Amino acid sequence: MKKLQARRAGWLLAALLVPALAFAHGGATGVVHDRMHEMKDMKAAMKELKPIVAGSTDYNADTVKAQAQRLVKASGEHMLTLYPEGTFTKPSEAKPLVREDWKTFSQWANDMERVGKAMDNNASNGLGKATLSKADIAKLRVADMTDSQLQSMSVADLYQVAGSTCSSCHKRFKKD
Ligand code: HEC
Repeated sequence: MKKLQARRAGWLLAALLVPALAFAHGGATGVVHDRMHEMKDMKAAMKELKPIVAGSTDYNADTVKAQAQRLVKASGEHMLTLYPEGTFTKPSEAKPLVREDWKTFSQWANDMERVGKAMDNNASNGLGKATLSKADIAKLRVADMTDSQLQSMSVADLYQVAGSTCSSCHKRFKKD
C-alpha cells in the first residue's frame, strides 16, 4: 500500500514537472520564448563583460570577442524576425508599440548589432579607456555614426554604449 502511494506520488510529481519545464519564461512558447531566450543570452554576455570592463577580472580578448558575438547574434535583422504582429499579449513583456514604432525598434536592434560588431573588432586592442560621460552617452546616436567611427571607440566605451542601447529600448518597448 505504501509502495503504491509512493509510486503515485512519483507520477504526480512528474506530471507537475513536465509542464513547468515546457513553459519556462512564464509560459512563453514559439517566437516569444525564443526572443526571451535571446535577451537572456545578451544579459549573460553583459554580465561576463562587466567585471572585465571594471578591471576586476583580467582582460582577455577572446572572452570579450565571444561576448560581443553573442550581442551580435541576438540583435539586428535576426532580432526583428522574432517580433511579428500579434505576439504582444501575456506572457510577453513587449509592448504593441514595437510594431507601431517599428522604425525606432529596428533602429535600436540594428544599433545593438553594430556596437557588438565594433566591440568584436576592437577586442584585440585591449580594454582602452572609458572616455564618455553619462551625458555623452545619452546624447550619442549610434545611427548617426559610421562603422569606422564606432570602431575607433574603446571596448570600455562600447560596453557603456551597448548598455545604454539595452536600456533605451527597454524603456520605450518593454513593460516593467
Ligand atoms: C531593440 C530593442 C531591444 C534591445 C536593443 C534590447 N532589448 Fe531586451 N527586451 C526588449 C523587449 C521588447 C523585451 C520583452 C520581450 C518579450 O517579453 O516579449 C526585452 C526583454 C529582455 C529581457 C527579459 C527576458 C525574459 O526572459 O523575459 C532581458 C533580460 C533583456 N531584454 C536584456 C537585454 C540586454 C542585456 C540588452 C542589451 C545588451 C537588451 N535586452 C537589448 C527589447 C530590447
